[in-house]
Amino acid sequence: MRNFEILFDQAEPSPTADPAYAPYGNLGFPPPYPDHPWIYANFVQSIDGIASFLGKHPTGGDISHSQEDKWLMDLLRAHADAIIMGLNTLIEETRAAPELNQGRGPVYRVQDPALREFRARMGKGRERVIFVTASARLDPQKYRVFDGDLVDAYVLTTKSREERLQTSGMRTIIAGESGFVDLQLAVRRLRQELGIKHLLCEGGPTLYGHMSRAGLIDEKFVTISPVEIGLLVPPEQQDQEPHDVQRGAPAHRPTTFTAPGFLPDNAPWWQWMSCRRVGDHEFNRYRRR
Ligand SMILES: NC(=O)c1ccc[n+]([C@@H]2O[C@H](COP(=O)([O-])OP(=O)(O)OC[C@H]3O[C@@H](n4cnc5c(N)ncnc54)[C@H](OP(=O)(O)O)[C@@H]3O)[C@@H](O)[C@H]2O)c1
Repeated sequence: MRNFEILFDQAEPSPTADPAYAPYGNLGFPPPYPDHPWIYANFVQSIDGIASFLGKHPTGGDISHSQEDKWLMDLLRAHADAIIMGLNTLIEETRAAPELNQGRGPVYRVQDPALREFRARMGKGRERVIFVTASARLDPQKYRVFDGDLVDAYVLTTKSREERLQTSGMRTIIAGESGFVDLQLAVRRLRQELGIKHLLCEGGPTLYGHMSRAGLIDEKFVTISPVEIGLLVPPEQQDQEPHDVQRGAPAHRPTTFTAPGFLPDNAPWWQWMSCRRVGDHEFNRYRRR
């Protein structure tokens, strides 16, 4: 793996002088709020702002093709008390990788053993992954992440879905009565009941969009990969995967923000905190003003 070239960095110093930071340089975070975590997101996007090819190649890895981006994802996971993601990312990424864990999908833990040890040196407990869902249509047996040996997995949903999930023995967090999860209440619960101080939002674009719209994203790490993808699923991909798109009406690939947006007078502006480079990949960090 190559080292990151630091173009500029105005963020906090690292909390320790651990050698794990050597390839990247400083990485520090502000303290959490008294009643909710400091929430940072991580995405990779194409030059034209797309976050997924969809179909057979839906993942961020399909866009980044970068060992350093993968390592940075691990470094960001190492600093998090928990990861939060939308259920569709688990479903899509499981479907697209039948070879992974006998078709039972990814586990979303720190993959690099050296960074797992670093996480332990920082005094972080077991890794936790929280899946957000309104439908709660989920069979935990189908997903490796719910086996409970590698990470603690939770489902964040509403009261109306609680019973359905408890019969399957899953750890649940409830916020809101029905329909969409009350994300503001949810993050307060995560801080107060689970002690989560730093929360990493790994998307996908729908969950991220709703969290950003609710004013909950403090920071966003964005890798720009030197590839152009296009907004509309091309006809040749539709022909391969007719289940993904309706014929004659090409599906839209997501940007990193797939939720109702903002108006010019309430669109949030961000401070560009740092920029690094490895070859043709650009690694940015933005903090909401
Ligand atoms: N480029 C990258 O860095 C990156 C990162 C992550 C993901 N991805 C890709 O993005 C794609 C998935 O994105 P996505 O936007 O379709 O899915 P997503 O955000 O992972 O999941 C969307 C689902 O999450 C649940 N959800 C989200 N917000 C909710 C809320 N406030 N309350 C209740 N439930 C909520 C809903 O689940 P229910 O339908 O079950 O109610 C919703 O359908 C995949 O292809 C994935 O690989 C790319």
